[in-house]
Amino acid sequence: MININNRRYIGSKYKLLGNIEDAVIKYYGPEKCTIADLFAGTGVVAEYFGRQGYDIIVNDILNSNYVAYNAWMGKEEVDVEKIENEIEKLNQVSADTLPHNYFSDIYSSKYFAVNDAKKIGYIRDYIEENKARFNQREHDILVTSLMYEADKIANTVGHFESYLRKVPEEKGVQLRMLELSQYEDVAIYKEDANSLVRKISCDIAYVDPPYNARQYINFYHVLENLVNWDKPTEFEGDSMKFKRNHLKSGYSQSKAPALFRDLINHLNCRLIIVSYNNTYNANSIASNNKIQENELIDILKSKGNVHIEEFNYKYFNSGKTNFDNHKEKLYICEVE
Ligand SMILES: C[S@@+](CC[C@H](N)C(=O)[O-])C[C@H]1O[C@@H](n2cnc3c(N)ncnc32)[C@H](O)[C@@H]1O
Repeated sequence: MININNRRYIGSKYKLLGNIEDAVIKYYGPEKCTIADLFAGTGVVAEYFGRQGYDIIVNDILNSNYVAYNAWMGKEEVDVEKIENEIEKLNQVSADTLPHNYFSDIYSSKYFAVNDAKKIGYIRDYIEENKARFNQREHDILVTSLMYEADKIANTVGHFESYLRKVPEEKGVQLRMLELSQYEDVAIYKEDANSLVRKISCDIAYVDPPYNARQYINFYHVLENLVNWDKPTEFEGDSMKFKRNHLKSGYSQSKAPALFRDLINHLNCRLIIVSYNNTYNANSIASNNKIQENELIDILKSKGNVHIEEFNYKYFNSGKTNFDNHKEKLYICEVE
């Protein structure tokens, strides 16, 4: 069985869930309400509150995240036995006899050993060819299970910006069933957060945008391609990134402060909790924050009373920046 946090994701707040919950209780109170996770990434924050009886809104621009939210938290009934049988059957397929396919042609010997890439591509084709036998959530559960496995066995430091120079070792692809829970109301979106806030209202907005110039689509392009399965044929560079300009985030560009101001202006909620970290003087330019702390605080002050909660935190980081003094902060705004 796998849990929602069993994937490597830059900026995942899994280890910060207790701190976020403390902030919710301190500044909002213990009563259950609606929480919107607007830049949800893995979805662990929304899922954590959803499991405790909060109504949740969960959103990200990447389709791979959206499909995973529907798998973990969608409303459709799941025939668990049917999916477990499919997983067992697929796990028994021997990669040795499989022909090459779309996935293995592109990624083998780089991100995956040949046999592992062949099996991932085979399973993804199988899910698509048998789509009629599954409802949308069951389909998404199989795709998500495959995505988590591809992440687990990839020849990377934890993301797909590039692959490791060593020859990938064959790991053997094994799908695992998702450990499913029950939730109250869940609304799932795949939208630019600035558009979404114009349409929704909530009690608490949790805002965890990208902090720097590093684009999430560059980190997770292989998983996005695996989930989308529309099989693009043009790739850039040795890292095999498909054409993805439409998926690049403005929060990783110089317009980030203007976007953040617009987002906060249009939020219709009582409490805003922003995660932003203090990598202001990171060693590489790409790792420097796009929004300065004083700017962020000023923008929040235009909406209400601002409080800062600060924690020492070991950040999931694979690059050169020294995070010894790393502090993760929550900027909390009680909307007036
Ligand atoms: C710091 S990560 C969030 C991590 C998340 N809190 C977790 O615990 O997994 C930022 C996320 O924002 C998403 N993103 C970037 N720009 C966005 C936008 N304009 N609207 C919605 N999501 C966006 C990225 O795809 C990425 O998943």
